[in-house]
Amino acid sequence: MSFPRDFTWGAATAAYQIEGAAKLDGRGESIWDRFCNTPGKVANGDTGDRACDHYHRWPEDLDLMAALGVRAYRFSIAWPRIQPDGRGPANRKGLDFYRALVEGMLERGISPLATLYHWDLPQRLQDDGGWASREVVDRFVEYAALVFDGLGDLVDTWITHNEPWVTAFLGYGYGVKAPGVADWPQALAAAHHVLLSHGRAVNAFRDEGGRGEIGITLDLTHVTGEPEAARRLDGHRNRWFLDPVLRGGYPADLVELYEERVGPLEFVQPGDLEEIAAPIDFLGVNFYQPAVVRPSSVDGPLALEQVPSDGPLTAMGWTVEPTSLTSLLVRLKRDYGDVPLVITENGASYDDPVPDGQAVIEDPERVAYLRGHIEAVERAVAAGVDVRGYYVWSLLDNFEWEHGYDRRFGIVAVDFENLERTPKRSALWYRDLIAQHSEGS
Ligand code: FCB
Repeated sequence: MSFPRDFTWGAATAAYQIEGAAKLDGRGESIWDRFCNTPGKVANGDTGDRACDHYHRWPEDLDLMAALGVRAYRFSIAWPRIQPDGRGPANRKGLDFYRALVEGMLERGISPLATLYHWDLPQRLQDDGGWASREVVDRFVEYAALVFDGLGDLVDTWITHNEPWVTAFLGYGYGVKAPGVADWPQALAAAHHVLLSHGRAVNAFRDEGGRGEIGITLDLTHVTGEPEAARRLDGHRNRWFLDPVLRGGYPADLVELYEERVGPLEFVQPGDLEEIAAPIDFLGVNFYQPAVVRPSSVDGPLALEQVPSDGPLTAMGWTVEPTSLTSLLVRLKRDYGDVPLVITENGASYDDPVPDGQAVIEDPERVAYLRGHIEAVERAVAAGVDVRGYYVWSLLDNFEWEHGYDRRFGIVAVDFENLERTPKRSALWYRDLIAQHSEGS
C-alpha cells in the first residue's frame, strides 16, 4: 500500500469505555453511570466503574502503543472529571490526570488528538434537560474553555464532538444509549444544540488564540437501496450534520420531512447556522458499515428499514463492505470540497479466543477487516481525496456501551478478570503496516 509520507497512523479510545475510576479524584456522575445503573439498559448489568482501569494503567497502555509504533492517540476527556456537576471551575485533579497522560504521550513520541465530548455528559446537566435544552450549549463552551486553558500548551489537535448523530438520535430519539430518552422532538433539538456547541467552541478556540487544529467527528455511512428511502437515510445520517457544518444550512428535504412528521424546528434561532458553520481544520470520519434501505410504513418518522445483508457480518451484526468506505470518501470530496479528512475510527468486533496465557491472540477476521478498510482509504487517496490519517478503533477491548463487555473491538485483548493486556494478531499486523509504510516513505 502507498500512503502520503506524513499520513498519521493512530489508535482511538474513549474515556468512559476504558478509564474506570468512576468515583475517584472528584469525578462526578455522568449520564452513562446513571444509564448503567438503570436495570435492563446495559447487557449483563455491566458498567464502566472499572473498565480497563486505564486511569491507573495508562503508562502501560502508552508503552503498548509505542511498541506498536502507533504515532497518534485519539482519547477523550471525561467532562465530569473536569466539572463534576457540569458547571463552575475546573477540578484540578481531573486536569492533572489528562496532563500526565498527554505528557506521557509526548515523551513516547505519540501525538495527542483530544476529543472533548465522547458521550459522558455530567448527569447534573441531564437533570436540566441535557442536550435537548439550549442551556447546555453555554455549559459546553465553558467546559471547552477550561480544557483549552488547562491542556492547550500540550495538545494541538482537537475534536469537539464524537458522533453527534449518536448523541442525539440514539440518546434522545431511539433511547438505546444514555440518557435513554425516546422522543424525536428532543432528539432534533439535541442534534441542533450539539452542533451549535461545536461551532461556538471552535470560535472560542480561535478567539482565545488556540494553537493547532480543531474539527468534529461525524459517524457517516454510505447509503444505497430504494432511491427515495436512501435519500432520506442519507439526509438523516449524513447531510443533517455535514450540511450545517460545511455549508451553513440544514438540507431542505429533511427540514420538510421533520417539520411534517416530528414538528416545527423552533430551536433554530437567528444566527445559529452561521455559528455552526465556523471553519474547521479537518473533518473526522468514523466508519463501520454501509446501509441498504427500503421503505417501510412502521419504522418511525423516516418510514424506512434496513435491508439485511447477505454478506459477511461482524459480531455486532454490521456489514463488512470496504468498498463503501471508498465511495463515501470520494463522495465527501465531490459534494463538500477539499476539507481535509481524518478517519478517526474504524474497526470491528469479533468473538476472539478468550485470553488464556497465549502470547498472541489470533483474530484473522479483524486483520482482514482492517486490511480491507485501510486499502479502501488508500484507493480514495489515490483518487485524490485528502485523507490525512487513520485511527483504529480500538486500542483495547473495552466497555462497548449498551453491549457491555460482550463486544470486543480491541487490537489488544483485555482480560476483564485480571486486567491483563495481550496483543492480538491484528495489533502485530498494524505494527508491521506502520513500520513498512515508514521505511517506504
Ligand atoms: C462508535 C463509537 C465508539 C465505539 C464504536 C464501536 O460509534 O464512537 O465509542 O463504540 O462505535
